[in-house]
Amino acid sequence: MKVVRTRDELAEARAELSGRVAVVMTMGALHEGHAELVRQARQHADAVVVTVFVNPLQFGQGEDLDRYPRTLQADLDLCEREKADVVFTPLPEVVYPDGLPLVRVSAGRLGEVYEGASRPGHFDGVLTVVLKLLQLTRPDVALFGQKDAQQLAAIRRMVRDLDLPVQVVAVPTVREPDGLALSSRNAYLSDEQRSTALVLSRALATGDVAAGRALLDAEPGVEPDYLARVDSATFEDSPAGDLLVVAARVGSTRLLDNRILERA
Ligand code: PAF
Repeated sequence: MKVVRTRDELAEARAELSGRVAVVMTMGALHEGHAELVRQARQHADAVVVTVFVNPLQFGQGEDLDRYPRTLQADLDLCEREKADVVFTPLPEVVYPDGLPLVRVSAGRLGEVYEGASRPGHFDGVLTVVLKLLQLTRPDVALFGQKDAQQLAAIRRMVRDLDLPVQVVAVPTVREPDGLALSSRNAYLSDEQRSTALVLSRALATGDVAAGRALLDAEPGVEPDYLARVDSATFEDSPAGDLLVVAARVGSTRLLDNRILERA
């Protein structure tokens, strides 16, 4: 496995890869959900590039950029174990050599609803770095977790709207045996908060907005943001939609989860 930090090192390592190439983009603090992304990537391609970059552009003011978990050595160990071919771990000045970019991708309406409403500019920051990392790694296929369903929808839409030559593959959410969706942010939870957080997956398991909301409202220590039924491609509210999405704060940690439904 090659670990590269600069654009030149990446270009050299990329040139040595042959056949279909997959990319798995991450912000580090890798867990079993990321390991599954790398394993699935291997199913779709001959070589796998993992990027590890905490993208400042997608954090708002007062968000957790500075305290976002950084565990590079453990991340590299996981990538090695899962047989990634190349890991790209650039510093911000490598990704943004001229400082934060003047020209950015806009997620449009997808960037304004649900997660976008709570985190203005977040999806523009995500799409901008995803586009840059696609340009730098030039993959045939890019894999993203279903866990961040709105991010997935925005990326799919960018690929379609901007005619990007890459296949996007969604990988199902990996859960703890008790149902908690794996997330790097789970590291912020105390034991007590972790059990409180189980109400998110329990609320989704009801398959119903009103019943799920009642569970969230009844759970002390949870501050619900939204629980809604939406269309998974547009994130428009829809009683017939194919996705139930939830976001809530447990302590100071914002958690997301979702469940795919049959279209009504
Ligand atoms: O899902 C993430 O970890 C990030 O949003 C991504 C896609 C790596 C972009 O920074």
